[in-house]
Amino acid sequence: MAKNEDVFKKIVSHCKEYGFVYPSSEIYDGLAAVYDYGPNGVELKNNIRDYWWKSMVQKHENIVGLDAAIFMHPTVWKASGHVDAFKDPLIDNKDSKKRYRADVLIEDYIEKLEEKTNKEVAKARKKFGEKFDEKMFRETNPRVLDTQKKIDGITKRFADLINNNDLKGLRSLIEELQIACPVSGSRNWTDVRQFNLMFSTQMGSLSDDANSVYLRPETAQGIFVNYLNVQKTSRKKLPFGIAQIGKAFRNEIVARQFIFRMREFEQMEMQYFVKPGDEVEWYEYWKEERVNWHQALGIPKDKFRLHDHDKLAHYANAAADIEYEFPFGFKEVEGVHSRTDFDLSAHQKVSGKKLQYYDPDTKESYVPYVVETSIGLDRMFLAILANSYEEETLEDGSERVVLKIPPLVAPVKVTVLPLVKKDGLPEKAKEIMDTVKNDFMCQYDEKDAIGRRYRRQDAIGTPYCITIDHQTLDDNTVTIRERDSMKQDRISIEKISGIVREKIGKGV
Ligand code: GAP
Repeated sequence: MAKNEDVFKKIVSHCKEYGFVYPSSEIYDGLAAVYDYGPNGVELKNNIRDYWWKSMVQKHENIVGLDAAIFMHPTVWKASGHVDAFKDPLIDNKDSKKRYRADVLIEDYIEKLEEKTNKEVAKARKKFGEKFDEKMFRETNPRVLDTQKKIDGITKRFADLINNNDLKGLRSLIEELQIACPVSGSRNWTDVRQFNLMFSTQMGSLSDDANSVYLRPETAQGIFVNYLNVQKTSRKKLPFGIAQIGKAFRNEIVARQFIFRMREFEQMEMQYFVKPGDEVEWYEYWKEERVNWHQALGIPKDKFRLHDHDKLAHYANAAADIEYEFPFGFKEVEGVHSRTDFDLSAHQKVSGKKLQYYDPDTKESYVPYVVETSIGLDRMFLAILANSYEEETLEDGSERVVLKIPPLVAPVKVTVLPLVKKDGLPEKAKEIMDTVKNDFMCQYDEKDAIGRRYRRQDAIGTPYCITIDHQTLDDNTVTIRERDSMKQDRISIEKISGIVREKIGKGV
């Protein structure tokens, strides 16, 4: 774990040093859980966004896009249940005066038990070597079984307490498990209280309650309230989807792990409207589709896992998380939720406007059910960076940090480098740059020795470097260096775009 924590710290400082992510308002010591994206970060983020949009909207004929405003009528949030139910249970430690999420304290406790089991498994694997059968070990080892029984018991109790909104029960469980404050080490806890995560602000010149509006905590409600507008104008029949990308805001109590949990973040959400009764089939379909989407980027399969929710959000009857193994453990990147007709029915009731679909096949009108896929763009960004970051010792003993970002989403695709800053090489390099930049995001770099320039490009994940040398002036050939293998080939200038396009087209 210590090693992983070190890696995570290195990734965070790499992000700053190479222009991916900066703390917000840093000259004023930053703003907790708010971050800004630098020149390379914004490119990577745009590319992930495009990749999602293309795979959702462009490749599905029955999914269309929407860009709803961040501000919405405040009644939206009353009807959707967010005013009453979008809350986290808070607990304070009286000695350290630190505030925690009660559910996170219990989840961390469960995670520690899981770590204990993983350590047992690792020890046994070391002892038995190739013959080791992990499944059998987990199913038969008494210590592992004992810990698993404990985990199952706590998980079940925890889910019941959360689903019943039992705050006293949560406090008792924290006491029973003897969970101590990580700062003071004491178990001197306050009662558990509910804390609404929505930010509110005033609209117009009066600052009374009547003018209060919320910053949306999810983009989905913009889709729900526009569902009939979109269905009618795009003339879609069920099943069909509406996709949207945009900012969401949550006043997170426990803001930690860099851009994993932010107060301002971006979501890429898709609501799939289906006939009531078909939702289970579509829920299973979208879980599989979304897992495939992640894997198509080339991140190894075993870095992801599907985790069914024990505690359901107020709007869902089934939900699963797609989790990525970050350096700080498996954590949610995306949620797939079966939201039933909860939201549309609530908006229909509160607004008094019919939100029904007329089914031309059955000649019936009904409120559709909804299956939602919801991925955090910032979390996907972090997953890609964490998966890409590698420290390598090369054959000559030197070291390099390389981001093996999938070429499709790499911030810069090609960098053009004149070998030396004289003899007409910069002019020739700029000529090439002017052509290639029409096709791809390119950089030009003539400063420092060529080796240092390659390292700089490795550090931002550029898949190809094109070097212009004296031979280029004679025969119009260049060397092309591939990031991961560092292999160099001599090719003619006309071939550059084709080679790069082929690599990017593969998606990995
Ligand atoms: N519309 C459903 C919804 O908002 P959610 O599970 O609360 O569901 C969906 O959020 C995704 O949004 C999460 O899987 C995560 O990737 C991202 N997300 C949620 N809270 C976040 C935060 N504070 N910082 C960054 N990303 C967040």
